[in-house]
Amino acid sequence: MRIEQRPEFQIHLQNLKSKEQLYLETIFSVANGHIGVRDSNPLQGNNPNYMGTPGLFINGFYDYYQIQYGEKYTGYPVNDQVINRLCDPRYIQIKIGEEDSAVDYFKVETVDKNLDMQTGLLHEIYSVTTPQGKIFNLIVESFASVESVNVYGIKYGVVPINFDDEVEIIKVHSYINQATSATVSDVRVNEAQGHLQLDFLDGYEQPSYLVTTYKSQQGSLVTFNGDGPKLSYFKDESNHWGYHAKYQAKKGTQKEFEFLFSIGDVYPLVNARMYADQYLVKLNEDIKNTSFKSELMASAQVWQTFWLHSDVEIDGDPQVQLSLRFNFFELYQSAGKDSHTSIPAKGLSGSGYGGHYFWDTEIFMLPFFIYTNPELAKKILMYRYETLKNSQQQATQFGFKGGAMYAWRTINGYEASAYWPAGTAQIHINADIAYAIEQYYEVTKDDDFLNDYGYEIIVETARFYMEWGNFAEIDGKRRFVINRVTGPDEYSAVVDNNYFTNKMVKFNFRMVQKYAKRFEHTDLSNRLGLSPEELERIQEAADSMYLPFDEDNKIKLQYQNFDQMNKIDLAKIDNNDFPLLLHYHPLMLYRSQVNKQADTILADVLFPQGYSDDELKRDFDFYEPITTHDSSLSQAVFAIAAARVGKNAQSYSFFTQAIETDIQNSHHNTANGIHAGSLGAAWEGVFYGFAGVVNNAEIFSMDPKLPAQWNSVKFRIFLYGSEYIFAIYEHEVHVSLLSGKGSTIKIAGAKCELDSESPDQVIKY
Ligand code: BGC
Repeated sequence: MRIEQRPEFQIHLQNLKSKEQLYLETIFSVANGHIGVRDSNPLQGNNPNYMGTPGLFINGFYDYYQIQYGEKYTGYPVNDQVINRLCDPRYIQIKIGEEDSAVDYFKVETVDKNLDMQTGLLHEIYSVTTPQGKIFNLIVESFASVESVNVYGIKYGVVPINFDDEVEIIKVHSYINQATSATVSDVRVNEAQGHLQLDFLDGYEQPSYLVTTYKSQQGSLVTFNGDGPKLSYFKDESNHWGYHAKYQAKKGTQKEFEFLFSIGDVYPLVNARMYADQYLVKLNEDIKNTSFKSELMASAQVWQTFWLHSDVEIDGDPQVQLSLRFNFFELYQSAGKDSHTSIPAKGLSGSGYGGHYFWDTEIFMLPFFIYTNPELAKKILMYRYETLKNSQQQATQFGFKGGAMYAWRTINGYEASAYWPAGTAQIHINADIAYAIEQYYEVTKDDDFLNDYGYEIIVETARFYMEWGNFAEIDGKRRFVINRVTGPDEYSAVVDNNYFTNKMVKFNFRMVQKYAKRFEHTDLSNRLGLSPEELERIQEAADSMYLPFDEDNKIKLQYQNFDQMNKIDLAKIDNNDFPLLLHYHPLMLYRSQVNKQADTILADVLFPQGYSDDELKRDFDFYEPITTHDSSLSQAVFAIAAARVGKNAQSYSFFTQAIETDIQNSHHNTANGIHAGSLGAAWEGVFYGFAGVVNNAEIFSMDPKLPAQWNSVKFRIFLYGSEYIFAIYEHEVHVSLLSGKGSTIKIAGAKCELDSESPDQVIKY
């Protein structure tokens, strides 16, 4: 039995190397930025015979739990925030005669699974055997609508294989805080459960319930309807509302039942209780007078639009093509689309990292959206504006006079990291956000965003750095220094003058200056109290920013004195001891010249101008051998740098490893959720690496370096409100203006003007 498929867009079970259950739950999870549903065993429920990690996640719906410290110093975060694992909408209870899947052990074997990335439909076939040897096929189709993000659809087909008997299917979601498989002792997992309460709401024509949290005081509503033979709305013996159907099943005859869920937004608990009726009316609207099929079709339409603008077509490497598509598909599945939420580091496919948002969004994922879906990019950035107040509060609580201190990892804007040396100390997060705002603005010229939100963040983040840093004399010169911080590389912590941080902060300062004139005498500048004196001080700090450099070897130094750290030979470390963070005390790593991930090289990639290729090559040759890539955010960055200095084979190898992070489970932890940052970095590998787009260039420029394995690569982007399509061949670039006024761009050093009169050009390189 095989599912029909068009191979270029299918993630098919048979083509995946690992068949490990928890890994598959992540890979085949369906999501839409608001909700995510893991692909768990549909019979699991609370049956202790099954050990998976099912769950429904709502972006931004979390609870607190108190962090237990051995020694708690002043200012440590009190609470962690953890995304709630809600009841699994895939769950179905099936009774065959006397046997009951909720209590007995029905053996559930996966026959096939296929995720169609063109439509977002997950199609699965299970073969189920009851303890008495009755066998039936369970065919499950499901999707999370990207058209109407509250909607999740699931359809079950039940086919008896070797029996005729009475069958009852029951769909009641009465459990909360569901039992899941035991967690591992991996610091990256962070699985603490929230404290949820589930209230069934009486008086509706379909099951409706309210889920609330105790500590974060949030609430959301869920309602669902069903359709199928003999299916009726009922109350079970525990007074829980749901649907059931009891019928005489015949061998070989399939019965189908479909359900549409409407899963609500996240509200303050008081509102969720008080306005439950109103919210439910709205939620019902989404799923009444419609069907699984219509909702699926509507969602598939949106997927089509997504692929039209965001696909990257590669001629020459089908495996890489498929992995890339999976990455883009997951990015869109994961991205919050409501301006209140961002993209959790694990998407909505698992509770790894507690569902927190990190810098991963701004530095690794946002460029993909900025260039292919700028409206969505804006919404994602809006989350940072929404949490600006909390970040300002955080700065004052920390002891600063003003400014904003964005949290390293968070859901609600407050810091949730219990390990400050690799958490709170990563103050580069502020500048990462400012950098992303500038990228967004440069590509879209969205003045409203800059005026209403962007510039305020740029100023507030810069102010924080002005207070954190100070002027000091180094080698006889007055310098602005930023001490005791952690850069991106988490195998070094609390260092002085991290090159990446200082470079990013300098950029942040420059952005304050760049737009200062535009805001002079405006309400915003009055409200912010931005004086000429303050601007002058910021300018002085930017001009004198200290950027550590090793004059003897002519390389950028990861931080001041990095050259004096203990050297270790990674080749001598046993393979089983990677990732190092799980095997060494942090200090053993901090005192050594070893990198978990791209740090200085990332600075080179984000600021490609102002130094020669030889310098980049020297940086690369120094940092590459000391980098373990224990973070999945690393390889794609090295791929870009390698492409720039002509290390083509190495570049392609880094790139393929990066894009296969989840598909190949190369970090062995995809079970906890996808690596969303790494997926975004894969797009950056194509865009900044092989297409050779130069970020921060005055006019859009590309200097292609097509991998030898490819005959061509094609993609679309939006630029200053126009859309273009590029096709890069070995020695030619074809570019066409698809919509908008067009502009001047540079390809391989040649300027080309594109407008509606001459929308197509071919440039030889
Ligand atoms: C990386 C961080 C990253 C986090 C979440 C860590 O392993 O070192 O840079 O932000 O994972 O993806």
